[in-house]
Amino acid sequence: MKRVYIEELGRHVGEEVLLQGWLYNKRSSGKIRFLLLRDGTGVVQGVMMKGAVPEETFVKFDDLTQESSFALRGKVRKEDRAPGGFELEVSDVTVYAIAKEYPITPKDHGVEFLADRRHLWLRSSRQHAIMRVRHRIIKAIRDFFDDRGFTLIDSPVLTPAACEGTSTLFETEYFDLGKAYLTQSGQLYAEAGALAFGKVYCFGPTFRAEKSKTRRHLSEFWMVEPEVAFADLNDDMDLAEEFLEYIVQSVLKDRAPELKALERNISFLENVKRPLPRISYDEAVAILQSKGLPFEWGNDLGGTDETVISEQFDRPVMVHRYPSQVKAFYMKRDPNNPKVALAVDVLAPEGYGEIIGGSQREDDLDVLLERIREHNLPQEAFEWYLDLRRYGTVPHAGFGLGVERTVAWICGLDHVRETIPFPRMIYRLTP
Ligand code: 4AD
Ligand code: MG
Repeated sequence: MKRVYIEELGRHVGEEVLLQGWLYNKRSSGKIRFLLLRDGTGVVQGVMMKGAVPEETFVKFDDLTQESSFALRGKVRKEDRAPGGFELEVSDVTVYAIAKEYPITPKDHGVEFLADRRHLWLRSSRQHAIMRVRHRIIKAIRDFFDDRGFTLIDSPVLTPAACEGTSTLFETEYFDLGKAYLTQSGQLYAEAGALAFGKVYCFGPTFRAEKSKTRRHLSEFWMVEPEVAFADLNDDMDLAEEFLEYIVQSVLKDRAPELKALERNISFLENVKRPLPRISYDEAVAILQSKGLPFEWGNDLGGTDETVISEQFDRPVMVHRYPSQVKAFYMKRDPNNPKVALAVDVLAPEGYGEIIGGSQREDDLDVLLERIREHNLPQEAFEWYLDLRRYGTVPHAGFGLGVERTVAWICGLDHVRETIPFPRMIYRLTP
C-alpha cells in the first residue's frame, strides 16, 4: 500500500493509502468514530463505522490520546464538508506510541507557558502557518538574488571586531588569540565579496546582545545582506523596493491559505508594489512635528516615531539621509550635506517599524580611517577592511533585511518571538 501525505490526497481519490502522523483530535457520534490525523502537511479526518471494521481496530479509538503517533489505512473519499476536502474511510489503525497527557490543549495558554514548550508548540496549526510563511519568504530571498546574478558569499559568525557598534556584542574567548565576537552583521565581509564578485549577498544568523525587551528584538536573528559594487544610495533603494515587492507578492501567491489561517488582512500586503515612497529624514521630522510629537532633529527615530511616519503611507516607506551621528561608522556622508549619511531605513506599514537598514559605504581611505578613530574602534582589526579602499576602491552600497521582522509584518504578528523556530531573547535561552 502506498504511503502518502495529506496534501497529496487529491491525487489518490478512490485508492487505498497509508497515512502516518499524530492525533490532532477525535470525536465520536453514535456508531461512528472520527480520528483527526495530522502529518505536517495537513489534517485529515479518518472515519470508522462500528461493524465495518474489525472490533479490535474499532476500539483502538479509545486508546489514542492527543499527539499519539499512529497510522491509518483506508480509502480516500472526496468530502466537501471535511477540512481539506477529503476524508479517509478507515480499514486499519496502527498505533506507534500512546502520548502522555499533552500539556497544550485547545484552551488558551499564556504565552510564557507556550514559549517554555516551544518544541511542542510548533505542532499547532498557527505555528505551522507561520513557519510555512517564513520558509516561503526565505525561498523568495534566495530566488530573488540568485535570479539576478548575485553570488552567495557567506560571512563568518566568529569575528574579531564590531560592525554595528560595541554595545551589543556577544563575546567569547578564542583559543590563544584573545576575544572573538558573534557577528552583528556580515556586511563588512559582503563588501569584500562585492569588490571580488560585483554583486553578492550573505545570509545567515546574526547576533545582538540587545538589553531591551521589545516585540521587535531578538538576540539571534537571520539577516540577508546584498552588497553591490558601482552602486549609490539610489541604486540601493531601487534594489530594496524591487526586493520587497518580490517577497510579498511571492508569499501572497503561494501562501494564501496560511495567511487566511492567521486571519491576516492582506490589503496592506497587496499594495506592496513599486515605487515605494521615499522621504528624507528631514521630511520625516516635519511629519512628526506636524503631529505634535516633541521630536528634535538629530535624534534617531524610535518605535513610536516610526509608527507615526509609516501611518502616513499605504505601503512601506523609505526614509533616507539620517543624521550621521546616529548611524554606523562605515556610512558615507552626503557630499551635499555632511551632517547626514547616505543611509536608508525601510519602515513597514501598520507599526511594524524598520525591516531594512542600508547605506552607501564610505569608499575613501582617509575618511574611513577618521571614522574608525571617531568611533573608538581598534584600527588593527579593520586593516583588512581598509584594504578594500586601498586596492581599487569604488562606490558601493548594500542593505540588510531582518527575516523575523519581515515574517512578523507579513503574518501580522504582534511579537517576533513566534517568527523563528526557537527564539533567543534577553530572558530566553530555552528550549
Ligand atoms: O539596521 P541594521 O542594524 O543594519 C545592519 O546591520 C547593516 N550592516 C546591514 C547592511 O547594510 N548590510 O540591521 C538590519 C536589519 C534591521 O532593519 C532589522 O530588520 C533587523 O536587521 N534587526 C533585527 N531583527 C531582530 N532583532 C534584532 N535585535 C535586530 N536588529 C536588527
Ligand atoms: Mg538599523
